[in-house]
This record gives sequence, structure tokens and C-alpha cells, in this order.
Amino acid sequence: MRQIMTTILPRTIDKIIFDEMNGYYLNKSNVEVNINNSEEDNKKYLGTYFPRSFSEALTIMNDIYAQKLIRKHIIGKQQINILDIGTGSGGNIVGMMEFFRTAGLNSETINFHTLEGNANAIALQKNIFDSYNQKNATKFKLSCTQIRFTSAATLNSQLVLFLKQKGLAFDFITSFKFLSEFYNIDYFQAKGIYTSFVMTLQNYIAPQGILILFDLVSGNIDRNRPRPFTTQIMSEELNDYTKSNISQLKYILPVCCGKWSDTCNRKMCYIERQFCTQHSRKANDLSKGCYRVMTETRFANQIISSQPSENKYQMSQNSKSPTTCFRTVIQKLLPNMNQVNILNAFTFH
Ligand SMILES: C[S@@+](CC[C@H](N)C(=O)[O-])C[C@H]1O[C@@H](n2cnc3c(N)ncnc32)[C@H](O)[C@@H]1O
Repeated sequence: MRQIMTTILPRTIDKIIFDEMNGYYLNKSNVEVNINNSEEDNKKYLGTYFPRSFSEALTIMNDIYAQKLIRKHIIGKQQINILDIGTGSGGNIVGMMEFFRTAGLNSETINFHTLEGNANAIALQKNIFDSYNQKNATKFKLSCTQIRFTSAATLNSQLVLFLKQKGLAFDFITSFKFLSEFYNIDYFQAKGIYTSFVMTLQNYIAPQGILILFDLVSGNIDRNRPRPFTTQIMSEELNDYTKSNISQLKYILPVCCGKWSDTCNRKMCYIERQFCTQHSRKANDLSKGCYRVMTETRFANQIISSQPSENKYQMSQNSKSPTTCFRTVIQKLLPNMNQVNILNAFTFH
């Protein structure tokens, strides 16, 4: 079985969240909806989930940057504008800051535009952002807007209103563990929002810009209200998006989706990547996420055509049922199998 790499939370960030902001780690806590979090709830989120979001975003950014066409494009930008939706206290944007800093990009040219509905989470986000800049001698810019999306039905119209006023095309649009909150509130009302969300956002992405949509794989939390896993919902709804004749974006990660989504008719595909985070309160903190990285079709085709075709791609690292995809055929990965020609679907090769 493939080894999961461990990301160590940098000491400076560990200090910010646990010592300066009083975050605390709570083992086995399960948070489904965070919009109404109290100050106490946010401290728990900060100590328990922030480090995971940090390493998930940092890992994904490093993976994307390893692709030479993308790297060339990012390095060539004079300014980088990032839109992040459902930022909370900022775990994933701090992961991105760490990526940009360690990649040696000029922080002064990098602007984060964040949207969040919880006032206390915003206060934490701003403090953490400033403290990160101060401790690392960086000059990232943050423009944070408090906005509460009243329901799944109004999410896109509220977003369009904001984006029209903003008048920017974004080089990165990211959203981590946000849309699942609508499903956790009301599955039936939320149905279709992954599709409509990307339909909306495709109009505000810069040429060769990157969209990262990340969520927890999370399953059926309430036995009385059965529903598919979030990862299956994401697969289903984003495939609806890519199959639409007005879609402008295409998958680049997982690579197998980039390769074969045009002919993929699988229903409710289960995609899972595991991440491991280490910090002062927990040595091996395992998290399980699902995500897609997308970009405009022409650029995506260029990137994907450089990836090997005659291999299976492991697109689920689920410990009970790891699976591979080869030309849309899913196969269970068995321990006695020869794994030499199986590639990781979440990285470029
Ligand atoms: C699970 S947290 C994720 C935070 C961060 N992106 C991360 O990965 O750690 C989801 C965030 O979305 C925000 N959120 C959820 N529903 C919202 C809504 N209807 N309007 C605005 N923000 C919302 C929550 O307040 C919370 O901060």
C-alpha cells in the first residue's frame, strides 16, 4: 500500500494557533456545520481542523506546481489574485501562503480575497494572517468580506453579486470543506450545488487560472437520513458540469479524471486521498479528502496530454477499499497485486 506523506506544521504556525489564538485539539470530534460556531467552537476547530486544512492545501499546491506548464504560468504572473470561499479561520489559505513563500514567490504580489459568514472566524483569520506575515517577514495581502449565504438556493446569486462588484478575474479559486456544509444541513435542498457553483465560478477565473474544490469524503452521519458520501456527490455533480456543453473548465487532477472524464459514465465515483499532519498536539493526524483541480479546457488538454495513459491510477486511498481507475474501469487494489505500474492519481508524472 502507498505510504502517506506526513506534513509537519511549521513551528511558527503551531505557536500562532495553539499559543496566540488558544486553539485546542479534540480527538474524535466531528463537525458538520460551522457557520454558527461560537468563539469556543472556533478554538476547537482551530486546534483540530486548521492544521489538517493547512497540510491539505500545502500538499495540493506543491503537487500542482510540480507540473511544468503550471509552474511556468505561475512564475510569469505579475500579480496573483486568489478567491477563497468559506475560508473560516484560514487553514487552507495559510497552507497556500506557506506554499508561495517556500516556492520563493514574491508575497507582495499575492492577494487573497476571502468570503466567510462567521464573524469570530473572520477575526481569527485576520489575526492569523497578520501574525503569519509578521513572523515570516512576508507581505501577503488579505481582503476579507463577511457574507452569509442564506441558503443553497441563493448561494450562486449572492456570489455573482459579490463577484460583479469585485470585477476581478482570479488566478486561483479555492473552496475547502465549504459546500458539504450545505449538504449537511439539507441534502435535498443542496443537490446540484457543486455543478452550479462551478458554472458560476468559471466566469470569474483568469486565463489558465486554477480551481480547487476540496471536501471531506464524509458519509452518512445521520442514520435516519441516508445520503451518499460527499465524495460521491462531488463526482456525480462535477461530472454533470464537465459534460455540459457550456462548461469551460476540465479536470487536471485526479489525473485519471483528466484523462478519461469525456467517456466516463460511472455513477457516484468514490475518490479519496489521505493526508497526515503532525503538530505539537498530535503526532499522526489522518484526514481523508476528495477534490478536483480544474482549469480551462485548452490548458487542461495540454497538461493532461503529457501524462502517461497506459497506467492505472490509484484514485482512492481508502484503507478498506483502495481502488484504481484505468480508462474509467475501477478495480480494487489487492495487497498481493503487482503495484509497479500503478500511479498516484493526485500527482503529475
Ligand atoms: C469546515 S469550515 C472550512 C474552513 C476552511 N476553508 C478550512 O478548510 O479549514 C467551513 C466554513 O464555511 C463557512 N460557511 C458555512 N456555511 C456558510 C454560509 N452559508 N455562508 C458563509 N459562510 C459559510 C463556515 O462558517 C466555516 O468557516
